[in-house]
Amino acid sequence: MAKNSSLNAASVAKQDEFYTQYKDIQNELNHYEKHFKDKTVLCNCDDPFESNFCKFFLRNFNYLGLKRLICTSYSTSSVVGKQMTLFDWMDEPVVTGNGYVMDIKEVPMANGRGVSDEDIDNLLKSKKSGVKKLKGDGDFRSEECIEYLKQADIVVTNPPFSLFREYVALLMEYDKKFLIIGNQNNITYKEIFPLIQQNKIWLGCKFGDMAFRVPDHYEPRATRFWIDENGQKWRSFGTICWYTNLDHEKRHEKLILYKNYYGNESDYPKYDNYDAINVNKVADIPKDYFECMAVPITYVDKHNPEEFDIINANDIRTNPETPVKGHGLIKDKDAVITTYAYKYDEIAKNSLTYVAEESHNYLTDRQTDRQTDRQTDRRITYARIVIRRKM
Ligand SMILES: C[S@@+](CC[C@H](N)C(=O)[O-])C[C@H]1O[C@@H](n2cnc3c(N)ncnc32)[C@H](O)[C@@H]1O
Repeated sequence: MAKNSSLNAASVAKQDEFYTQYKDIQNELNHYEKHFKDKTVLCNCDDPFESNFCKFFLRNFNYLGLKRLICTSYSTSSVVGKQMTLFDWMDEPVVTGNGYVMDIKEVPMANGRGVSDEDIDNLLKSKKSGVKKLKGDGDFRSEECIEYLKQADIVVTNPPFSLFREYVALLMEYDKKFLIIGNQNNITYKEIFPLIQQNKIWLGCKFGDMAFRVPDHYEPRATRFWIDENGQKWRSFGTICWYTNLDHEKRHEKLILYKNYYGNESDYPKYDNYDAINVNKVADIPKDYFECMAVPITYVDKHNPEEFDIINANDIRTNPETPVKGHGLIKDKDAVITTYAYKYDEIAKNSLTYVAEESHNYLTDRQTDRQTDRQTDRRITYARIVIRRKM
């Protein structure tokens, strides 16, 4: 299996226990501080005693000026009950089989200057933590968890990889603001890409490598797996990103472009089935072209809605036999380019460069890439997003 498809494999095998590091949460959240004042934050895949999302919002509760913090845990999470076996005040062990909820409206500080780890420990051990057993298992889709969702202003978490589509659908249904971790392959899902295309959701700031703690029972892997000096198992992925509908500065940064289309037309061949030119690298987007361009998926990380529109590829079909695709991308066998002017050898050589540039190799892309037909000089490109410069 290609190493970068292991995150997809995680969803297939339902390996959902990937625990996010505090520093990764902090680094991303730094870009959104202004959105949190007087808000109720929900972390709904987060054991209050274990999750760093919960810890981050407890530590920064007063600094961000939060109104309320709700964290719900899922019963089958392998960290439930690990950290704290007893609520002193409940005289009851934390058990698997039930989810737990922490619901707080204040975080007392011993020294008044900031929330310390000791403050958090004291809070979690006290009645003030508002921790209680849920009626059910804490599934984010359950009635009681949806009640919490309704009360939340912003949802922030790393949801289960295997339920990403459902998770986002629920956030959209309840019209919630959110900031969640996902993987770059999610961009191409037919349930996700149309939301990106319509600027209803976009990517956050971090795009690329991220390491996660995993439970003891996770099997070692040849790559992107290690055990640290404390015996903690880790996995990492090169394809992580954040999805959000909270505005941030990066999405208003201008793309610096230096290439020209006119004079270099043969570098930008047209698709057979779509009215667009192919651009192999984000850096190659020509600054003098105002029609549709099909660019790598990684473009989404650089998308500035004031500069470019993202176009639904179905709207620029030139061949009536090309089926309408739910995802709205150019990909698979319909992403063919047949042209005498197409410099196949040069592109094949460059493909090494753009694999590196995209820093991820979608399995499907690799498969489609293999479909290149050298005899007829027909080539199917990697999955592409169509963009058009705003006038
Ligand atoms: C990718 S892990 C992230 C955990 C935590 N949010 C973090 O970032 O450290 C996803 C978590 O969602 C939990 N989970 C799986 N299915 C769930 C469901 N249906 N409802 C709520 N949580 C679920 C898993 O047990 C796992 O702990």
